[in-house]
Amino acid sequence: MKDGQFITMGIESSCDETAIAIVADGRKVRSNIISSQIAVHKVFGGVVPEIASRHHLNNINSVYQKALDEAGVTMEDVDLIGVTCGPGLVGALLIGLAHAKAVAFATGKPLVGVHHIQGHISSNYVAFEDLEPPFMALVVSGGHTCIVDVKDYNSFEVLGQTRDDAVGEAFDKVARVLGLGYPGGPLIDKLAKEGNPHAIEFPRVFLEKDSLDFSFSGIKTGVLNYLNGQRQKGLSVCEADVAASFQQAVMDVIVAKTIRAAKTRRQKRIVVAGGVAANSRLREMLGDACQKEGIRMYCPPPILCTDNGVMIACAAYYKYQAGMTSDFTLDAFPNLPLEA
Ligand code: KG4
Ligand code: ZN
Repeated sequence: MKDGQFITMGIESSCDETAIAIVADGRKVRSNIISSQIAVHKVFGGVVPEIASRHHLNNINSVYQKALDEAGVTMEDVDLIGVTCGPGLVGALLIGLAHAKAVAFATGKPLVGVHHIQGHISSNYVAFEDLEPPFMALVVSGGHTCIVDVKDYNSFEVLGQTRDDAVGEAFDKVARVLGLGYPGGPLIDKLAKEGNPHAIEFPRVFLEKDSLDFSFSGIKTGVLNYLNGQRQKGLSVCEADVAASFQQAVMDVIVAKTIRAAKTRRQKRIVVAGGVAANSRLREMLGDACQKEGIRMYCPPPILCTDNGVMIACAAYYKYQAGMTSDFTLDAFPNLPLEA
């Protein structure tokens, strides 16, 4: 049932989650179906793009039906279809895109292509009903690390981004060398609670004086060198200390740069988004730093941090409100820039 609401369907398939959600009036979750492929990719220690595409194809019809059923609506009730069109794995993106275009064509409903990062930022509008732009956003995930000045619902300025690995990627790689499993972020987060964050001094890479860019490949090598050094000397390794010290070094840099960005732009609100936003140490450290500076921090619940269809539906809603729609030439863009 529609209940007089504006109903948006959001479709996300940019990496290893086939996710479709129904959202009412841009911010109210009616259903949020996520089919995760973590178990499939675990044996390979990371996402295998072609396997991901195949699983999206196998799963998307049942995820679509479940999203409608759980929301208690039919396609007739849906007013808008939003779909991630980039960045991401091109084969994975194409499955969601083909599904969205087919449904839009068959039903005559409008279609909107959504940037994955705009989606992550928008998950906060769902979590915090009064939140409106402008604000500073920190987007930290398996594929992205950036600080974004969000000027309006559809207007962004990227102030800094990673020059090599994304922060989630660094967590996953360090977890792998520690033999923890995949995805590594939540496992490091958990193990770090038992370790000493100051036991090992891993490098903090701040780059040039005023730069808001990041680099995480050095710390990844730092952890590897430390482990090899200990083993060569026949010394034992305390995995919990390594996890805690790595996490501390990464978050020291992220928190410092995010606070600097907010202060430079005189922003009193910082919004955190992306899978790594679920990290408990990040929430703690950024929360403390924000409190000291009189800044309010927003961070969605973990289910809205990792990839989902709700965030895509919400972003699509605000694009549609601004008169932005896509036609059937909409394509997948693996390196889509946010500011375009
Ligand atoms: O946003 P997301 O689901 O996918 C991308 O768009 O990349 O983020 C997935 C990433 C993975 O690298 C995962 O290890 C990381 O988020 N992650 C975490 C935590 N939970 C998920 N990293 C650190 N601490 C966590 N608690
Ligand atoms: Zn993501």
